[in-house]
Amino acid sequence: MTKGDLAQTALDLVPPGKGILAADESLGTIQKRFDRINVQSTEEARRSYREMLFTTPNLEKHISGVILFDETIRHATTEGTPFTKVLSQRGILPGIKVDKGAKALAGFPGEKITEGLDGLRERLTEYRELGARFAKWRAVITIGEGIPTGTCIAANAYALAQYAALCQEVGLVPIVEPEVLLNGDHDISRCAEVSERTWSSLFTALHRHQVMLEGLLLKTNMVLPGKDYPTQASVEEIAEVTVSSLRNTVPPSMPGVVFLSGGMSYLEATERLNAMNVMGDHPWQLSFSYGRALQETALDAWQGDSANVPSGQAALYHRAKCNGAARDGRYTKEMEAEAA
Ligand code: 13P
Repeated sequence: MTKGDLAQTALDLVPPGKGILAADESLGTIQKRFDRINVQSTEEARRSYREMLFTTPNLEKHISGVILFDETIRHATTEGTPFTKVLSQRGILPGIKVDKGAKALAGFPGEKITEGLDGLRERLTEYRELGARFAKWRAVITIGEGIPTGTCIAANAYALAQYAALCQEVGLVPIVEPEVLLNGDHDISRCAEVSERTWSSLFTALHRHQVMLEGLLLKTNMVLPGKDYPTQASVEEIAEVTVSSLRNTVPPSMPGVVFLSGGMSYLEATERLNAMNVMGDHPWQLSFSYGRALQETALDAWQGDSANVPSGQAALYHRAKCNGAARDGRYTKEMEAEAA
């Protein structure tokens, strides 16, 4: 794996018309998703649900890569084909979540640090052998009274940078994901300030750890008012503020920003991504790496019943198609009518 191969893989994850499906819910998170449809999270239920997602007809037209969880990268279809093979045969790159979750940051109430660096080189090597081509590590930044502190931002930035350097060493493209949470009653300018501090600190840490920016993607939040802020911002304002904050802090040699949906509705996630791409060309590709915003309608259609697999797949395909268009600034509201 050369530097050129890493850079090519990063570009292959953000081509026109396509983005990433985040299907890397940890055991706790998938339980929460299944609770919504009253399905018990057994290993077989998780495997069948993901088989439905990954065998969706024509998914490769709008999905460039899928992020898997440790359990899922070892799973196979009912016929016994490993999920990694199902995906790569269709030209979809398999990826893997490698962090061990965000834990309380000692001495800093309300703040978190993501764990998982111990033994990471060996785990990454195994994932590469299992077929992964890229990885993801998520850091969580919370906005509140007196937080985030510079200590929390820096500690997470340095963990992300160490993870990214290890990924590139074993030939995996690192997706670095600092997520500034939507929780809170702050306004959009406060989110912009915190997001800029977070991104700026992250790229400083990546530079210090000699991470090659061409072989990396940034996954992050859009810049939004907190979910308890009394007035919502318009789609255009969100698009403009997000792009402006990214331009202030994210180097152009980094090929792409893929947004998380982070509690936005699936329509908001699509419309806001579209608005950013309607603004014109940016220094980086602006695409998606949605979990909930791609899966919610599919999960609701599925209901844990194999008879509903075709409608679950149709729902996923539809959201992937809408977001594939939004990623090029070609999405229209009329596309939603096609779902029926
Ligand atoms: P959401 O789009 O549901 O926020 O999930 C994306 C993700 O991978 C969070 O780490």
